[in-house]
Amino acid sequence: MTGEPIRLTQTVKGAGCAAKLAPGDLDRALCGLDLPVDDNLLVGLERADDAGVYRVSDDLALVQTLDFFPPMVDDPYAFGRIAAANALSDIYAMGGTPKTAMNIVAFPAKTMDISVLRAVIEGGLATMREAGVVLVGGHTIDDPELKYGLSVTGYVHPAKILTKKQLRTGDKLILTKPLGTGIVCTAIKAGLAGTEVTERVIGNMATLNRVTAEVMADFSLNACTDITGFGLLGHLAEMVVDSGHGMRIDSATLPHYPEALEWAAMGLIPAGAYNNKKFRGNFVTFVESVVQTRRDLCFDPQTSGGLLIAVAAGEADSLLFALKAGGVAAATIIGEVVAEPQEMILVA
Ligand code: CO
Ligand code: CO
Ligand code: CO
Repeated sequence: MTGEPIRLTQTVKGAGCAAKLAPGDLDRALCGLDLPVDDNLLVGLERADDAGVYRVSDDLALVQTLDFFPPMVDDPYAFGRIAAANALSDIYAMGGTPKTAMNIVAFPAKTMDISVLRAVIEGGLATMREAGVVLVGGHTIDDPELKYGLSVTGYVHPAKILTKKQLRTGDKLILTKPLGTGIVCTAIKAGLAGTEVTERVIGNMATLNRVTAEVMADFSLNACTDITGFGLLGHLAEMVVDSGHGMRIDSATLPHYPEALEWAAMGLIPAGAYNNKKFRGNFVTFVESVVQTRRDLCFDPQTSGGLLIAVAAGEADSLLFALKAGGVAAATIIGEVVAEPQEMILVA
């Protein structure tokens, strides 16, 4: 290994983001399978959510999730922090508290120095420590492409589970992190992003949704999810389907990286954004005046994005105030839940 600084993003085949299998493909793979039934499985694959939830007793349920992906930034320690924050986010999105985690690692031992693996795991451990989570084990395989993530287990009270679909007409929608990480990471991979924006996006992606989860626990809300690979509109579509409700989004309010709009205008849009639009575009109506770069931002796949919270209109301002007081600076009301048209998202 030479003294050249390793550029992890150059070792990744896909473009600059955590590419998930298209949900349609996964549906086809699982369709008709005989899944085990259990009365204590409160949230399972039948109504896929951010994490599975299994009741242990009347006041305790386990929340379980797993996420891993190839690097979207060049610094292995930062990648470890981001991957861990991203995996932990699904526990927070369910209203849970993460407790234990296991590393899942694919490492190209023949082509990459083992110090890279050490730095990735150190980054993950730093984030786990911040979350109050204990690492209990893991599994590593030799693989042509580096991938890292966590399997996480948390606790939740069975009556306090936050799923995606319990929307109420008039609920305000709060988003807690800026959009555009997919576009910014594409620019990083292309060598166009400067140090300042790179550090800013790393800082946001590595930030836990812990404070948000702790603040929102004091409010009576029902629905929450985290914005990740399917982009804002992909995740909003998952919320409105079968919910009996629709949503109206004000695109002018969306928190975002200003650079993302510039790079989107240059065509630096990750492939995942097109997949998201293809898969979920039929749930979305854009008002004509919404410019193309804002539309791209709405479908941009996010890595370790913010939580999207549906809160009663009367409590929205105090939740927003509490989030900002807690340091969640990007938190913004971006729209609301409407009765009609059902299963549609209007972006104005
Ligand atoms: Co999620
Ligand atoms: Co996930
Ligand atoms: Co093993």
